[in-house]
Amino acid sequence: MSNQNPTIIVTGGAGYIGSHTIIELLKQTDYNIVSIDNYSNSTSKTFERIQAITGREVKNLNVDICNLEALELAIEQVKNPIGIIHFAAFKSVPQSVADPLLYYHNNIASLVNILKISKALEISNFIFSSSCSVYGNVESLPVTEQTPFSKAESPYAHTKQMGEEIVENYTKFSSGFNSVLLRYFNPVGAHPTGFNGELPRNRPDNLVPYITQTAAGILQQLTVFGDDYNTRDGSCIRDYIHVSDIADAHVKALNYLIENKQKAQNTIFNLGTGEGVSVLEAIRSFEKVAQQKLNYKIGPRRAGDVISIYANNDLVKRELNWEPKYNLDDMMLSAWKWQMHLKEEQ
Ligand code: NAD
Ligand code: WQD
Repeated sequence: MSNQNPTIIVTGGAGYIGSHTIIELLKQTDYNIVSIDNYSNSTSKTFERIQAITGREVKNLNVDICNLEALELAIEQVKNPIGIIHFAAFKSVPQSVADPLLYYHNNIASLVNILKISKALEISNFIFSSSCSVYGNVESLPVTEQTPFSKAESPYAHTKQMGEEIVENYTKFSSGFNSVLLRYFNPVGAHPTGFNGELPRNRPDNLVPYITQTAAGILQQLTVFGDDYNTRDGSCIRDYIHVSDIADAHVKALNYLIENKQKAQNTIFNLGTGEGVSVLEAIRSFEKVAQQKLNYKIGPRRAGDVISIYANNDLVKRELNWEPKYNLDDMMLSAWKWQMHLKEEQ
């Protein structure tokens, strides 16, 4: 790969969604990729996994993006940057409730610093990782990009609401600067090879890693948080989306900005499949593809859970010409392959 090619900076490139996006960027484009990640929620092993899948080495700048001086110094190594995809943030809802200032500091300071870098280096294409958690509890489904925000349910969700506003306003008052905000619904699954996936550091909070770790015998039993909701089988409904489909949407959003196809300086897209899936349906899909029964029980409702949420994804399909390629079984099978790969790696 020629060093003359333009470079895309991917913050949080060692993390779950950032690493899958790097894999898609390497597969689909000729850009040089530079990651910035301080491994606060990941390890350098991710880059070995990316190399095993793509055959390509990716440079990572190990720096805390909240430290502007260190960031400015590190970024001098980056040649010809034309776009930034900003994934780096903390993402645990319960951790953000336990330590809100940790989340306000890391998620907001890093965003402001990376925007400062984009200004200093005149990088005009910017993509921000947002979340369906910005909607809070919604009154009507499916959720469109126009659905108003409810009050944030957690400091984490609040950092995403504030982050969106910062990017939107900065874009509005910065001529020539264009941005896309991607609101992910529930990203799950792993690379279809099973060689890269989500690596929860502690006991997972999220459903799919909880399922795969239970099936692998790392956790004893999954608890389904409530089967007495007003839904088709009583369990909560979410819009699970394969991480590689999310990654593909980033490549399309980046090209949309670089090729100047956007209709407004700032564009917001929901990133979901548009289909609601219940917790019990997700478990049945896992049991089918993994060909084993899962040890689970029905337990009480989890405080703060939204009953049902799924996306209207018409806009992203139309504007970015994006379609989800993977279904629920694919999500579960890839997550299971990854769990088994981790066992082999040990
Ligand atoms: P992740 O924790 O796997 O990846 C984030 C990466 O950023 C990690 O590798 C971490 O080390 C790095 N990082 C964090 N703070 C940093 C800092 N100050 N300086 C340098 N590096 C830093 O998380 P993910 O699941 O890949 O999420 C990526 C983005 O997508 C986040 O912004 C998250 O809020 C958002 N998001 C995630 C989900 C989800 O369910 N995974 C859903 C919606 C939105
Ligand atoms: C999914 C469903 C649980 C675990 C969170 C964040 C959100 C976004 C995505 C970042 C729910 C049920 C879960 C378990 C269960 N992240 N469940 N037993 O809560 O939709 O969203 O991740 O932006 O901001 O809040 O995801 O995976 O925790 O839960 O029954 O052990 O699985 O009740 O219905 P959630 P989740």
